[in-house]
Amino acid sequence: MTREQRKWQHVELALRADARPETSDFDEVRLVHRSLPETAVKDVKLDTALGDLMLSHPLLINAMTGGSAQTGEINRELAQAAAETGTAMAVGSQRAALVDGRLQSSFRIVREMNPRGVIFANVGADVSLDDMARAVEMIEANALQIHLNVPQELIMPEGDRSFSGYLRTIEQAVTRLSVPVIVKEVGFGMARETYRQLVDAGVRIVDVGGRGGTNFAWIERERRGDGRYAYLSDHGQSTLVSLLEWQAAQASLVCVASGGIRHALDIVKAHALGAAVVGISGKALRAVQEGGAARLIEMIYGELDELRVLMTLFGARHLRDMQRVPLLVRGEARAWCIDRGIDLAQLSRRGEV
Ligand SMILES: Cc1cc2nc3c(=O)[nH]c(=O)nc-3n(C[C@H](O)[C@H](O)[C@H](O)COP(=O)(O)O)c2cc1C
Repeated sequence: MTREQRKWQHVELALRADARPETSDFDEVRLVHRSLPETAVKDVKLDTALGDLMLSHPLLINAMTGGSAQTGEINRELAQAAAETGTAMAVGSQRAALVDGRLQSSFRIVREMNPRGVIFANVGADVSLDDMARAVEMIEANALQIHLNVPQELIMPEGDRSFSGYLRTIEQAVTRLSVPVIVKEVGFGMARETYRQLVDAGVRIVDVGGRGGTNFAWIERERRGDGRYAYLSDHGQSTLVSLLEWQAAQASLVCVASGGIRHALDIVKAHALGAAVVGISGKALRAVQEGGAARLIEMIYGELDELRVLMTLFGARHLRDMQRVPLLVRGEARAWCIDRGIDLAQLSRRGEV
């Protein structure tokens, strides 16, 4: 099977309802209601900063496609919606186009459709520094996402089997590339141990890419067809747990929350837990499949409207004000925090008057 065919299978499987769980850890978070928010919807500002990158709002259409004619068409629709709504967007892994120059147009279309937009390049950590620079140049990217997807590779029969040297490559990428580096998971989440390694390597921005949305362990298991590794389908940390681990790490990292973000309430919860930006992938893909760029544009504007309303509800004029809203964590995530020594009291009691 070619890489192009594999990428298309990923799209088809990601669109299936069982590619994502029915419940979300975010439902275990309760934001404390306030009867006197003392603010108004018109006063809400959605601008945010991802390191030095200034964004007009916190949504990111996260890495998915490119590398074939069909996925190039999806990129065109995603990019059209990104341009219209001022949404930052990442392309899918550019590895195929680094090997075969004919595939570059399926990524370049994203820059063509959105000449002034904020666009992220995307490669794995096994790519050389030269190729990373080429990926950035290919789409005149504003930042480079380096994705980490070890479980996915290991479940794939044709996947990588060796993962040493990644940290060193990441360290070099941070110091030598001309754009910021974002180290990103693809749905298995992160924990303190990983954040510390990344901080030591000089990384400033992470995308926690947590469990709870598109599930690549499930997708690769379906592709294998022999049922092996089914037990890894719930492997990894949820997006909520990844954010709590990030809080506990007290790391200097700027954080993108992604993985299973369903609606504006999940978005405000992610900001309450410290995220600067919130990424959506599977949901954006489904919107484009249902009704092209127009459907995705409608969805993004809808989310932004609801976000303004919810921020008003919680008395937040700026996204960072959400970090003052006290919140409680229940269920499995709470048990995780107790076992890992993560202090939830500082979240549930903050902002007390
Ligand atoms: C069809 C598809 C292809 C993807 N390909 C990539 C990729 O090439 N590089 C990457 O970093 N992440 C890739 N992802 C992972 C997403 O960026 C994201 O981390 C993951 O889907 C979780 O977000 P979600 O629950 O909103 O879908 C892909 C996701 C989908 C749905």
